[in-house]
Amino acid sequence: MKSTIGFILFVLAVLGLLYSVSGKKYSRVPDDAAHKGITDYAVCMGCHGPDRQSPLKAEHPPKYECFKCHKTKRIRDMK
Ligand code: HEC
Ligand code: HEC
Repeated sequence: MKSTIGFILFVLAVLGLLYSVSGKKYSRVPDDAAHKGITDYAVCMGCHGPDRQSPLKAEHPPKYECFKCHKTKRIRDMK
C-alpha cells in the first residue's frame, strides 16, 4: 500500500514537471494582424531580428523554431 502511494506521487511529480516545461512560461505570440498566418520564421526575424522594430534581447534563446516556445492559437501546430 505504501509503495502504491509512493508510485502515485512519483507519477504526479513527473506529470507536473512535464506540464511546467510545456510552454506556459513563454510569452504568447500576440493575436494581431502582424502575427497572423506567418508560415516562415524568416518573416518573424524581419521584425524581431537585430536592428528591426522589435529586436530580440541578446540573451534570447535559439533564434529559430519560434513556435516551440511561443504558442499561438492559430499556428501552434506548425512545425
Ligand atoms: C510586422 C512585424 C512583426 C512580425 C512579422 C512578427 N512580429 Fe512579433 N511582434 C511585433 C511587435 C511590434 C511586437 C510588440 C512588441 C512589444 O510590444 O514590445 C511583437 C511581439 C511579439 C511577442 C510578444 C513579446 C512579449 O514581450 O510579450 C512574441 C512572442 C512575438 N512577437 C513573436 C513573433 C513570432 C514567433 C513571429 C513569427 C511568427 C513574429 N513575432 C512576427 C512585430 C512583428
Ligand atoms: C527555446 C525557447 C524559445 C524559442 C525557440 C524562441 N523563444 Fe522567444 N523567448 C523565449 C524566452 C524564454 C523569452 C523571454 C521570456 C519572456 O519574456 O517570455 C522570449 C522572449 C521573446 C520576445 C520578447 C522580447 C525578448 O527578447 O525578451 C520575442 C519578441 C520573442 N521571444 C520572439 C521569438 C521569435 C521571433 C522566435 C523565433 C525566431 C523565438 N522567440 C524563439 C523563448 C524562446
